[in-house]
Amino acid sequence: MLQRVCEGGSLSITMNIIIALLCILTNQVISQTEDIFPAKILAQQTIISENSDLYVTCSTFGKKKDSMVYVYFLKNGRGIQTQLQKQDQNDILFKIPRAGLHHSGNYSCIYSPQNYTLSEIVKKGGDIIEILVIANFLPADISIVGPSTVHEGHHVEFQCTVSQHLHTLGGCKLIYAYLRKNDTILLVQLFNVSQMLATFIIDSAVLRDSGHYSCIVLPSKCIYEHEYTVHGTNKVFLEVKVDFISLELLRYGVITLMVLLVVCLWWITQQTGKCRHSGGMTG
Ligand SMILES: *[C@@H]1O[C@H](CO)[C@@H](O)[C@H](O)[C@H]1NC(C)=O
Ligand SMILES: *[C@@H]1O[C@H](CO)[C@@H](O)[C@H](O)[C@H]1NC(C)=O
Repeated sequence: MLQRVCEGGSLSITMNIIIALLCILTNQVISQTEDIFPAKILAQQTIISENSDLYVTCSTFGKKKDSMVYVYFLKNGRGIQTQLQKQDQNDILFKIPRAGLHHSGNYSCIYSPQNYTLSEIVKKGGDIIEILVIANFLPADISIVGPSTVHEGHHVEFQCTVSQHLHTLGGCKLIYAYLRKNDTILLVQLFNVSQMLATFIIDSAVLRDSGHYSCIVLPSKCIYEHEYTVHGTNKVFLEVKVDFISLELLRYGVITLMVLLVVCLWWITQQTGKCRHSGGMTG
């Protein structure tokens, strides 16, 4: 086949044209990738909480002076945003408003004098930063320590754990967890990130405690030690006393009952005495 192509006059001319065209195309592709340069990437925070804005700076410092370039912002090697950078600029700020959990990833920047569509932008390697978006709200695994059917007055213990690796802000050790009964928040507890555990206790269960319980952890809300201290009007003291009025009533009630009993007994004795007396009269 190959031999025949080489031998055939007109066929080999066509082939040469095709090869030449291919060469031109390949050259264009090569020159296209050659006009894309890596840019530095900087972020003030690489771990942010869900729904906060993500800011990243791309720096083209060291690029040829007096040239306008397009700066591309990439996530996991694919273009997501582009901005035109003026001649006298080096840094350009990209923003992802209200970042979601799906915005966690590896980000990078590139620049080029050419204006490419974002889908054309693909890059591997180079300067990369990893951005982690921390969840505000995470359903946790819940279990009851002991039987799930108890009698009134019994102690109930719930345990809350998180099975996957838990990312928190800045290596935070303590976060909040809450126990929910249907849609109502019932109890709030500290969740120890190193032990991955929070315990909730209902001291003396009553009939209305029956129901569906769930547990939620808040990984983006760190608890710092100073948050424990409250002062002034943020503090109130409650003292529960035994109710003396009812105790008094009870005491008087007992006395009244005893008096009544004595009176009754006295009356009965009187009556029997009268009976005997009247019996004696007739007899
Ligand atoms: C970022 O890249 C590293 C190495 O390829 C990978 O292990 C990591 O999971 C990536 N991070 C995210 C959030 O995708
Ligand atoms: C609580 O939730 C369960 C299902 O999770 C539902 O069947 C039940 O009706 C709910 N109870 C109330 C009082 O909302």
